Amino acid sequence: MQIILSHTEENIIETIARAAQQLQMPAYLIGGFVRDKILERPTKDADIVCLGDGIELAHAVAKLFHPHPSVAFFKNFGTAQIKLPLPDGTLFEVEFVGARKESYTEQSRKPTVVAGTLQEDQLRRDFTINAMGISLNANDYGTLLDPFNGMRDLKAKMIQTPLDPLQTFSDDPLRMMRAIRFAAQLNFSIAAVTFDAIQKDAHRIKIVSQERITDELNKILLSPKPGIGFDLLSQSGILSIIFPQMMALHGAENIDGKGHKDNFYHTLKVIDNIAKETDDLWLRWAALLHDIGKPATKRFETGHGFTFHGHEVVGARMVPKIFAQLKLPMNEKMRQVKKLVELHLRPISLTKENITDSAIRRLLFDAGDDIDALMLLCNADITSKNKQKVHRYLQNFEMVKERMKEVEEKDHLRNWQPPLSGEDVMRVFGLPPGRKVGIIKDAIREAILDGIIPNTYEDAYTFMLQKAASLNLQPI
Ligand code: CTP
Repeated sequence: MQIILSHTEENIIETIARAAQQLQMPAYLIGGFVRDKILERPTKDADIVCLGDGIELAHAVAKLFHPHPSVAFFKNFGTAQIKLPLPDGTLFEVEFVGARKESYTEQSRKPTVVAGTLQEDQLRRDFTINAMGISLNANDYGTLLDPFNGMRDLKAKMIQTPLDPLQTFSDDPLRMMRAIRFAAQLNFSIAAVTFDAIQKDAHRIKIVSQERITDELNKILLSPKPGIGFDLLSQSGILSIIFPQMMALHGAENIDGKGHKDNFYHTLKVIDNIAKETDDLWLRWAALLHDIGKPATKRFETGHGFTFHGHEVVGARMVPKIFAQLKLPMNEKMRQVKKLVELHLRPISLTKENITDSAIRRLLFDAGDDIDALMLLCNADITSKNKQKVHRYLQNFEMVKERMKEVEEKDHLRNWQPPLSGEDVMRVFGLPPGRKVGIIKDAIREAILDGIIPNTYEDAYTFMLQKAASLNLQPI
């Protein structure tokens, strides 16, 4: 089998082969590494399956490298892992495991895992494209071992299981999401029998841990066209179990000739659009969640049509809950996503008439460091089929960008802090922390953002004295 390896990868693999030969233990490259090398995709890890003890092989391999990498191993599972440095400073992970098969005893219907042949091990893997092996043994070094036609399926861009799919999925129901994730990552199709089995067994996703599910969701979101994956998740029945809020976006209603677009398919377009512009996972999450508040705010107003007033505020409030439910990090990233959802209408809602300096200043102030991300999200959100509408939006959008540049150059509002802080107010008037301090501080900020006073210390100070006087306060 001809695959292209970097110099370092070649060295790593030849060293593993040398260790296996010293132990006289047959060993094979298997799984994702083989698949990705054939597809010429970048790889950062490799799995080795051997006919023997994977932990013993890992130790033998580690000894051949200088300095020796440490071996992490799990005796119960018979697996071991070493990490080797790459020239770019990152690590290449190699995992070792002994070939296994499942055996059913008469007393128990629960299978136990026992040592097996290479082919038995390949049969237990998730998809044919992940079940190909490459020999590392002296007699047939480099030979592709592909008993389940993984190569044929790679060429046909097809995902299917080596066994009856119901059997493969019952071994690990997460594989149903993996099938969908590979379809999105590689732009492959899922074989009809395999997809039928996913639809039938979708409910079994409930037994999988949230961490593993969310890991797959993130991988789907990071793929070139995440929309493919979320559409399949929806069709399979898995999405309504793991992420009902997103499922609720489905449906395009029409009353008396007045309709609204299907927010689910609109959201898929927006994530596909943003995926063309950025690899940032959190910006992609913001795109996924930007309209999540629409179902809860949908109203029909006679004579007017459907409205979703305040969906950006309701949606933003849903973000922490969704992050907690999906066990996504409850940190700065969550707050960024929340902010982007809340602000996603702002740039496009500015029209020719109200692109005032103060509206632009407010936007720059509210978005802060996330202004570029917000503009990307807004641009991705323009998906109308009405060409005139799109043209108008894009024109407005360009104008907002232009004006933002001007105002930013003039006022430097990115990461801006008003020239007088709450502490300054307390000091000047001898006030303890409290409501009055907040009122004066906010008034100064608003006056600057509204262009009532220039953004200077002196102007802010004079304004502060006036505001304080109206509250019966004098400087001490
Ligand atoms: N595998 C499996 N069933 C799973 C997970 C993994 O059969 N639920 C097998 C597949 O043969 C897979 C290999 O283990 O190729 C390695 O798994 P993993 O590293 O999780 O996936 P990769 O295929 O390498 O892909 P990625 O690294 O993108 O997750």
